Amino acid sequence: MQEKINVAIDGPAGAGKSTVARELASRLGYVYIDTGAMYRALTWKALESGAGCEDEASLADILQEMELELRNNNGTPEIIVDGRNVTDEIRLPEVTNNVSYTARHPHIRKYMVHKQQELAARGGTVMDGRDIGTAVLPEAEMKFFLNATVEERAARRHEEQLGKGMDSDLELLKSEISRRDMLDSERETAPLRKADDAEEVDTTRMSIKEVVDYLYTRIQRKLAAY
Ligand code: DC
Repeated sequence: MQEKINVAIDGPAGAGKSTVARELASRLGYVYIDTGAMYRALTWKALESGAGCEDEASLADILQEMELELRNNNGTPEIIVDGRNVTDEIRLPEVTNNVSYTARHPHIRKYMVHKQQELAARGGTVMDGRDIGTAVLPEAEMKFFLNATVEERAARRHEEQLGKGMDSDLELLKSEISRRDMLDSERETAPLRKADDAEEVDTTRMSIKEVVDYLYTRIQRKLAAY
């Protein structure tokens, strides 16, 4: 039987990580783990309870009490917090614009990283985030760093929001994405950074399918060598 490996996918917001990781996992028959959704779930709960995301001690209290479940509903990942399906709510702008503050706190990260490592302990996962190749799964057999220009990433989000019938302002998206890049790259604990042994893929001129095909081929080549 072919060995099941772990695949780490990192990169900045809007580089196509989650769609690529989800499709790649499904093609490989692996489990997709969206680590950003875990930080988003905590942010959602902190905002909901009025605590905000700046104070690490209150966030830690919330995390202690919170029941977080990552579910797979016929290939669609769902996020359940305390029994409530918050899959859509954790993508709302209010959560998106606050999640970088939540993700900055070292103790919160330590807890999340530990959970993520448990989820990947038996292999067979495709995990996406910012620090998967550097901190969560430094031993992952395959590591990719997906990148694209800020303009391209903002344009993708813009199309996505318009497609969902939402209001969307391209210039605002561009500045929000740049701000989030800066917060994620400049934080002290596990900043967004390409692992030395990760392969960087510039997705600016690639479709999702082209990226998935490319990563899939790279993984198959690796697996064939075992
Ligand atoms: O991938 P995303 O946009 O859902 O991630 C939401 C935020 O969470 C992002 O601003 C950075 C943070 N994050 C992180 O710090 N570490 C991870 N492994 C995943 C996400």
